[in-house]
Amino acid sequence: MQILTSVEPLRAALSALKSGDNPANAGNARTVALVPTMGALHEGHLTLVREAKAKADFVVVSIFVNPRQFGPNEDLATYPRQLEADAALLAAEGVDVLWAPTVEAIYPAGYATTVQVSGLDAVLCGAARPGHFDGVATVVTKLFNQVQPDIALFGEKDWQQLAIIRRMARDLDLTHPHADRILGVPTVREADGLAMSSRNKYLTAEERAAAPAMNRAMREAAAKIASGETVADVLAALQAAVLAAGFARVDYADLRDATTLEALDPYDGRAARLLVAAHMGKARLIDNVPVE
Ligand code: PAF
Repeated sequence: MQILTSVEPLRAALSALKSGDNPANAGNARTVALVPTMGALHEGHLTLVREAKAKADFVVVSIFVNPRQFGPNEDLATYPRQLEADAALLAAEGVDVLWAPTVEAIYPAGYATTVQVSGLDAVLCGAARPGHFDGVATVVTKLFNQVQPDIALFGEKDWQQLAIIRRMARDLDLTHPHADRILGVPTVREADGLAMSSRNKYLTAEERAAAPAMNRAMREAAAKIASGETVADVLAALQAAVLAAGFARVDYADLRDATTLEALDPYDGRAARLLVAAHMGKARLIDNVPVE
């Protein structure tokens, strides 16, 4: 596995991997999958990597803790960083390139451009974390331009992020033919249902034991909505259940169209997601489940 930190060597490595310069290619152009991450890798990320390997000839994983997607009072300084351990995990998975850009390789001096996906970024986590999705859209655009992947894979745990990236990829022709080259991979969970997240590291043992109650309450609520119970009542009960489980604050507990993220009440049977963000101790946990 090559570990690269600046754009020129990345471009050289990618063109060698893709082109006939690589004897393994026998003259055929090969496909590249990108798995963008912020490191602190867990089984959820490794599932994305395995899926990427199954779908493309070469896999590039990026690790970049993107300062532009953290708010002023958020956890940029304390976000877990473990590049060596992450690199060992990725090498063991057979990843071809670890793209670990310096801050200058992403945001050179005088950097002045922001990518904004309007509307989809105003709700849910976008309302609770102003500017967060501008940071995500901007860095993902940079990563696409640097790596020029044929496909890119993202976890469904960040459902809103996935919806925003799909829309952006379609709007800006980032992948060809379009957004169907953005692949969402189902959330990987611990045995007790807690969605895997790098931020689970912030939970104390007691909080970790209490946290799975959120997903349990969400699955019950999704089943009630699917069986025709009133959405507002189910969401109010869900919020109460999350608080009763020991979460200090709920940013949202919402039912949304799976693609447009518009709020749904009443539920009309279309593909929808039930999404929750709530705070426990130092962690802000998010999760979502389908309603169908
Ligand atoms: O999901 C993440 O880890 C990040 O938001 C991403 C997509 C790598 C952009 O920094």
